[in-house]
Amino acid sequence: MINEELYKTIFTRKSIRKYDMTSLTDEKLIEIKNFADNVKKLLPNIKCEFSFLTDDKVKNILPIKAPHYISIYSEKKEGYLLNAGFMLQQVDLFLSSVNLGSCWLGMAKPSKEVPASKNGLDFVIMIAFGNTQEKLHRADKSEFKRKGISEITSISGGDQLLEAARLAPSASNSQPWYFSGNIDEIIVCREKLNLLKAPLYNRMNQIDTGIALCHLWLSIEHQGKTACFDYANSGAPKGYEYMLKVKVEGDTSC
Ligand SMILES: Cc1cc2nc3c(=O)[nH]c(=O)nc-3n(C[C@H](O)[C@H](O)[C@H](O)COP(=O)(O)O)c2cc1C
Repeated sequence: MINEELYKTIFTRKSIRKYDMTSLTDEKLIEIKNFADNVKKLLPNIKCEFSFLTDDKVKNILPIKAPHYISIYSEKKEGYLLNAGFMLQQVDLFLSSVNLGSCWLGMAKPSKEVPASKNGLDFVIMIAFGNTQEKLHRADKSEFKRKGISEITSISGGDQLLEAARLAPSASNSQPWYFSGNIDEIIVCREKLNLLKAPLYNRMNQIDTGIALCHLWLSIEHQGKTACFDYANSGAPKGYEYMLKVKVEGDTSC
């Protein structure tokens, strides 16, 4: 029950920014690669690939150094940022579940000697990972700095289901997501950005929303239900942009 393991990890994971620079064993790296190659896609029609890099092949303006990085490359089709966040967050949770540190890196890029595209797919974002001397997990939920549930949803009776999404990581901890509709049909939106913020956050906010969706999907599975994703525009509350609707079905088919 790997998804259940990932679900449990949501409540203790945290970003790790200091790493032991010793490389992981080939065996461990293969285990991570195998996991990544089998993650669930939000948009199965978008071609994606993962790629592993070492520190000498990464350019980061922030001083975070790790022995390994995993990047996601994608076709640039509609929804690709949401899909990349959704897929790579499964890897982030997996790394934490096998007691490795990890941190999303919005500012890092593969260095110039690494080709900018891979099999016609473009680099989207990467996660640093490796062993750490730091405390890997949070002891409990009080250690998360997050918005309250009423700030991210208008759905009554949805607190338990949405708690996992509330705890999702986001760039600069901005938590741009909002959930409306009802407990069976959840409308997922993200904050509308003003002209000042848009250049900085437009891209990251879509990745962030994909990350929160990954947590929501795991939460729905945890309740023994199925998440069905519907992209037909249903409108959004004022100040938010519609992303998609999640239909929570009782059986296993969508
Ligand atoms: C898309 C994305 C990009 C991020 N980029 C960076 C980064 O460049 N540097 C960094 O130190 N942390 C980065 N973070 C980590 C966030 O700061 C962190 O997830 C957030 O503050 C919440 O803390 P937590 O992950 O410990 O729960 C990023 C997170 C996400 C989701």
